[in-house]
Amino acid sequence: MSATAVNIAQVHKHFGAVHALKGIDFSIERGEFFGLLGPNGAGKSTLINIMAGLARADGGAIEVHGHDVVKHYRKSRMMLGVVPQELVYDPFFSVREMLRLQSGYFGFGRENHAWIDELISVLNLQDKALANLAQLSGGMKRRVLIAQALVHKPKVLVLDEPTAGVDVELRQALWEFSSRLHKQGTTIVLTTHYLEEAEALCGRIAIVDQGALVALDTTSVLLNRHPYRLLCLTTQDVNVQLPAALAAHVVAQEAHSLVLRLHRVDDPIGAVLDGLRSAGVQIQDIQLREPKLEDVFLHITGRGHA
Ligand SMILES: Nc1ncnc2c1ncn2[C@@H]1O[C@H](COP(=O)(O)OP(=O)(O)O)[C@@H](O)[C@H]1O
Ligand SMILES: [Mg+2]
Repeated sequence: MSATAVNIAQVHKHFGAVHALKGIDFSIERGEFFGLLGPNGAGKSTLINIMAGLARADGGAIEVHGHDVVKHYRKSRMMLGVVPQELVYDPFFSVREMLRLQSGYFGFGRENHAWIDELISVLNLQDKALANLAQLSGGMKRRVLIAQALVHKPKVLVLDEPTAGVDVELRQALWEFSSRLHKQGTTIVLTTHYLEEAEALCGRIAIVDQGALVALDTTSVLLNRHPYRLLCLTTQDVNVQLPAALAAHVVAQEAHSLVLRLHRVDDPIGAVLDGLRSAGVQIQDIQLREPKLEDVFLHITGRGHA
């Protein structure tokens, strides 16, 4: 049996003139905590929607645990739990009713009710179990969508921006819960704007940009192979005019601080410090910072991830 959780082969998608996915090709292994990152509009949600059978690819194919998401929709869907980016819900049902309905849709009966109650409890929805979905806050709706995605105990859980617009407490709870599911063997695919969290949680990361895969590697290789590090200086001077060769390295400058991006090999720190001193910069403190995922992301896509 193959160890692949999700296999994505040459997937294309157009929306009119927009070529949203341009031959996306990679696979996710079983048991991975996988990050799918990219700027807004990169095509992440489109790829996830095709995975979940909510949208059709124009070309290529996706398999979840060996089941084609179009030809063997029900089997592939059984393997997959998806928490969509958009808060879609039916306002007429209570939380528990909705979860039971969803469970029935997957072919489960009463035997699954204990698991549903466990999800309600783990996701702290006890007080809201009888409330109608329309009455819940955004954060609570998000919890319900997560419970809904897990109702059939899927092998692969896909979280599309699950923490967008939720408070710090819920964010923390969600990461702990995802980590627990991961430890229990669930493959997790995560899309998020919080790069520091992706850096901490994901073993491998794919970066998509304008519908194409632009990086795919383990998180540590992505960070270690990054050719730049940051020189952070506390200075005494206000408004020193730097020569162009140095100014080109500056990524942030304030009254008493200066941050320069330096190439590990091509920008020897000694020479840079000499240059700064010659320009009249009086350095009070120095800190060399290794790149974060944010820096790598910026380098690869040319854009911040906000
Ligand atoms: N239903 C749709 N109709 C038209 N264009 C769409 C639709 N869904 C997505 N797009 C376009 O496809 C591109 C990728 O969008 P999306 O997958 O939502 O990106 P991401 O999730 O990475 O932010 C964008 O240019 C977006 O405007
Ligand atoms: Mg999206």
